[in-house]
Amino acid sequence: TELDLESILDFTVALAKRAGDLILEGSLAIQSAPASSINEKKNAVDLVTEFDVRVEELVKSELGSKYPAFKFIGEESYSAGDRAPLTDDPTFCVDPIDGTTNFVHGFPYVCISLGLIVKKRPVLGVIYNPFLSQLYTGIKGHGSFLTTSDGKRLKLPLASSPKPLPSLSQALIAVEWGSDRAEKPISAKSSSFGRLAGDPSQVPGGKMAHSLRSVGSAALNFALVAQGALDLYWEVGCWPWDVCAGVVIAEEAGGIVTGSREVFAATRSEDSFGDVTEAILTGRKYIVVR
Ligand code: IPD
Repeated sequence: TELDLESILDFTVALAKRAGDLILEGSLAIQSAPASSINEKKNAVDLVTEFDVRVEELVKSELGSKYPAFKFIGEESYSAGDRAPLTDDPTFCVDPIDGTTNFVHGFPYVCISLGLIVKKRPVLGVIYNPFLSQLYTGIKGHGSFLTTSDGKRLKLPLASSPKPLPSLSQALIAVEWGSDRAEKPISAKSSSFGRLAGDPSQVPGGKMAHSLRSVGSAALNFALVAQGALDLYWEVGCWPWDVCAGVVIAEEAGGIVTGSREVFAATRSEDSFGDVTEAILTGRKYIVVR
């Protein structure tokens, strides 16, 4: 039977807003809480708070009661050891707080990212940033939208810039440092970023992009590319919940996403470190998430 994606979208949007209220409440609590309420996962920059867990519990239980036949993949459930492989069944894929570092610092680029995967492909996405009251939604084949804080619903992308961009040197590009701060990935990323930003007359391979940004949330990077505010987002090492909703929203806005098949194979390749300057092809919005 066909899934009624419109009604799933209505339900998940309402749920994302409830989650957003909890994220805002958590932000106030975290700002006044002792640092001990912030826990480290792999290392001192890979953070999780009690609110990541509480938001995921809320979302998982509400989705479970409304859609008992659907499966669920979530960042915190995965961390807690729930690692069932992805199947063809409808599967919600959720990052309760994407941008946990921003959340901890009160930097207002934080969201819940809620996606639905069917037959291993993302078909519906909801990204809600409660700090800015910005809601991004998309359904495969039906476009993607931004609902602003004053309730306007705008089709994405907002502006049409030349397609493809005449050159990388006219692009605003999002990159992320990620949480792996070992020498090898950090120096590979630094040199890639340096070539993107560098003046070609002085930096070999330099592209002198308009500039680079690090938003700190994979899902919001996708949303900003879909919006047209960023031309490109490149990151290595994303997880399915970071990108599931974003893939739908960005593709429906005309973006091109590469690498997502590997991500949705649910096994993350730890060592495939590409080079952004080589990865960028001709699409106007070229998002590489591997
Ligand atoms: C992280 C953020 C970050 C990105 C990482 C993600 P989290 O998610 O999206 O910007 O660089 O790849 O894992 O830990 O804040 O949910």
